[in-house]
Amino acid sequence: FLLGGAVAGVGAVAAVGVDLALNRQESAAKPVSAPMNGELTVPFFGVHQAGVDTAAQAHGVFLGLDLREDVDRDGLTRLMRILTDDAARLTQGLPALADSEPELALSPARLTITFGFGPGLVARAAGAGPSWLAPLPAFRVDQLRPEFSDGDLLVQVAGDDPLTVAHATRMLLKDARGFASIRWTQQGFRRAHGTERPGTTMRNLFGQVDGTTNPEPGTEQFDEVVWSADGWLAGGTGMVIRRIRMDLDKWDRLDRSGRDASVGRTLANGAPLTGTEEFDEPDFEATTAIGFPVIAPFAHIRRARGEGNEHIFRRAYNYDERPLGTEVSESGLIFVSFQADVERQFIPMQRRLDELDLLNEWTVPIGSAVFAIPPGCAEGGFIGETLLD
Ligand code: HEM
Repeated sequence: FLLGGAVAGVGAVAAVGVDLALNRQESAAKPVSAPMNGELTVPFFGVHQAGVDTAAQAHGVFLGLDLREDVDRDGLTRLMRILTDDAARLTQGLPALADSEPELALSPARLTITFGFGPGLVARAAGAGPSWLAPLPAFRVDQLRPEFSDGDLLVQVAGDDPLTVAHATRMLLKDARGFASIRWTQQGFRRAHGTERPGTTMRNLFGQVDGTTNPEPGTEQFDEVVWSADGWLAGGTGMVIRRIRMDLDKWDRLDRSGRDASVGRTLANGAPLTGTEEFDEPDFEATTAIGFPVIAPFAHIRRARGEGNEHIFRRAYNYDERPLGTEVSESGLIFVSFQADVERQFIPMQRRLDELDLLNEWTVPIGSAVFAIPPGCAEGGFIGETLLD
């Protein structure tokens, strides 16, 4: 009964295999019509790493690691072989080698583990990185903090169960400990699994529907926007991760029509101000009775889209931390975008938003990093082999 896998989004999902189910006498005894979400797995091996085109899971942890000084190319190969083995097991609901809490690995809940290489790692591997693999240029809106920026190795651990994600994170960090230290960690969330129908666009903590205009995994457009065709990165992609603080206390002082105008879409259902449904195409030419554009010149969607020449795939998570001082919130977006070429696709867009975007009144980037996400690998191979082998 456990093999009737469900498919959520594009990343194929299967239920954990029968041998594991046999370990669970109790659940094996009860007839179940569909697999529990905890049993669902996303394949680890493949052309691309999972966790990019996988329908976003409820919980995401992002780790930025710094390599120890003595880790050379051989050390990197050893590290990536170990981490690949951990990820291949844990994502399939199997304990890692020498797993200290093996029971915690048995409910994968669509766990994906994705690795990214920063400029320092590629240099250590004596490889040539894509030209965009560097910190982003400085933007006027930035107030970047080193404790949320840069790093040699990125690990994205995402799943629909926070305990599974925590366990996987710990196992990976234990194995990485001899090679690297933690530079930053960022924890993010979306709706809990089961709260909304799969495929519902997420909302951020401003209450906005966030992610409507986004390439659709499985389409030609997505493949073009996201997957690189260059050298060792072919089948991989570029990742921008920016921690963007959202000033909810200031946002509280803005009325609803001001909130809608700042983006150019309604909070009610994310429809453009020129339409009624979320996926209606915005009409940027439309004007009001007295001749003003309905979607204002400063509206986030107008500025982000520009002439429509650049596209990125956004896969963000919310964060909500302990507030400081007299404020009641310390919240924001772990903005994550994937694109084949950061220089050509992301930077012009961010430049436009830096020049003009009303949302800048309430948002401040406080962390920023760029990583090359290597392609996936086949069983027996390891993530990063195209650079390191
Ligand atoms: C669209 C929010 C930062 C790029 C949107 C939408 C919202 C939103 C509500 C409209 C719905 C949608 O299509 O997703 C935010 C918030 C941000 C933020 C709250 C910061 C905290 C950024 C950044 C970029 C970006 C840093 C890229 C540099 C885009 C793009 C669109 C978009 C490309 C779609 C535009 C189109 O319709 O063509 N964002 N965003 N956003 N945003 Fe952002």
